[in-house]
Order: sequence, then structure tokens, then C-alpha cells
Amino acid sequence: MDEQWQSVGRIDQIAEDAPIEFKGRGVEVGVFKVGESLYAIENVCPHAYALLTQGFVDGDTVECPLHEAVFHIPTGKCLKEPGGRDLKMYAVRLAGEEIQIKVE
Ligand code: FES
Repeated sequence: MDEQWQSVGRIDQIAEDAPIEFKGRGVEVGVFKVGESLYAIENVCPHAYALLTQGFVDGDTVECPLHEAVFHIPTGKCLKEPGGRDLKMYAVRLAGEEIQIKVE
């Protein structure tokens, strides 16, 4: 098995309004489903400390639960301050039923 890929959950555990959060191996990552696509983004809001997986998903954006910064899930772009910067993105893939993210 390729050790850079980390399993974070199963495909039947994720929904558009129910992202998966992963913490470990030095990263905190949120995996979101938008339509039929999966995206893995940095889960900690760069502004202060809030988990975006606990925020509010609206289509392809997520709003931080703390001060309402908005990020574009497919690109990580900060669309509304006070996010401060764009989010780091992680590669994500399906291995059978398993959702995996690439952790360097
Ligand atoms: S912690 Fe996310 S906007 Fe402040």
C-alpha cells in the first residue's frame, strides 16, 4: 500500500451536508462532497481556530462557524473575509469504498 494515502472514511459516511473530518499525521483535513465530487481542504480556518467541517455548507462553499469567512470548496479560495488566505488542498481519491487523502 502507498503510505502517502490515508483512509479517512467510507463513501457511505459522507454527504453534501455531512463532511468527514480527519486529524492525524500532522494535518487536519476536511473532506467535502459537492455533487458527485470529493474535495479535501485544510480543516482549520486560517483566521482563528474553528473547524470548517462544523461550518455551513452552501452548494460549493463553506462558511466558517465562528466569524463567517467563506471558502470555495473545490479550489480552497477565500471568498469572504476574515478568512485571511486561501486554504491548502489535498489530493483525494476513492479506493473501492474507502475515501483516501494524500498526506505528504
Ligand atoms: S475563525 Fe474562521 S472566520 Fe474567524
